[in-house]
Amino acid sequence: QVAAASGHTVVLVDQSDEILKKSTKGIEESLKRVTKKKFADKPEAGAEFIEKTLKNLTTSTDAVAVVHSTDLVIEAIVENQEIKSELFKRLDKFAPEHTIFASNTSSLQITQLANSTTRQDRFGGLHFFNPVPMMKLVEVIKTPMTSQKTFESLMDFSKAVGKSPVSCKDTPGFIVNRLLVPYMMEAVRLFERGDASKEDIDVAMKLGAGYPMGPFELLDYVGLDTSKYIIDGWHSLEPNNPLFAPSPLLNKLVEEKKLGKKTGEGFYKYK
Ligand code: 3HC
Repeated sequence: QVAAASGHTVVLVDQSDEILKKSTKGIEESLKRVTKKKFADKPEAGAEFIEKTLKNLTTSTDAVAVVHSTDLVIEAIVENQEIKSELFKRLDKFAPEHTIFASNTSSLQITQLANSTTRQDRFGGLHFFNPVPMMKLVEVIKTPMTSQKTFESLMDFSKAVGKSPVSCKDTPGFIVNRLLVPYMMEAVRLFERGDASKEDIDVAMKLGAGYPMGPFELLDYVGLDTSKYIIDGWHSLEPNNPLFAPSPLLNKLVEEKKLGKKTGEGFYKYK
């Protein structure tokens, strides 16, 4: 959405037409929200902006078939090292020489993903934040193999889509998630110990620390499955780090398919 809105030609790829239809509808809704604010006094210019953005966007269920026309591939699939590596390995064979590959992973090592391809110098991390149309940040990750030219292209692209990029080494969670995920897990542990209710913890962090959402609201927003993938991955890397310890409550909710806002229930219920 943000790439198309800033004039880039985008092909959105997903597994089925049904998912793509849902995604396109989500983008249309989000564009309406953005436009309402951006073109408050100019509804015609707003309608034109939406039309132009949607013209820049096509969809496909066949990544291999469309990758030949790309300059940049941004992967944002399930948070699983093997599945991501498999996709990159496949696309590497069909993508043009100059094409840069980037992963939007929240927690996995970019270096390991890059090693599944033959273009390690044209591979980096490009990590966006939910909700992407609103959050100004992008983390740009340079591995020891990423070329300076690739890094600069990723920084330039981030600016061209209207974001403020920061850079970080290829370390677990980069900057934001390395601080945010342990904080949210500490909130769950505080609740699990019975020290405070989840509602009070959320109110406390909003009113006492100025966060726009409390940790339980944010966990539901990010998705409990994604949060669990992140913490489980780090726990296997550093089993003795108490900040990365798994939470029985989080595990139980994920097992019950209560994944947060997207499934209608997580720590809270949504209509
Ligand atoms: N698309 C377009 N616009 C949107 C939007 C979307 N998906 N979601 C919210 N907005 C806009 C609304 O239209 C609204 O615009 P307005 O000011 O003109 O009315 C504005 O955002 C504020 O929205 P709301 O009034 O509905 O609600 P809030 O004031 O609570 O703001 C929020 C919503 C921007 C999501 C805010 O609560 C927030 O900043 N929350 C924290 C989000 C956060 O921490 N994100 C990072 C998560 S971690 C992550 O993503 C990393 C991953 O790897 C795990």
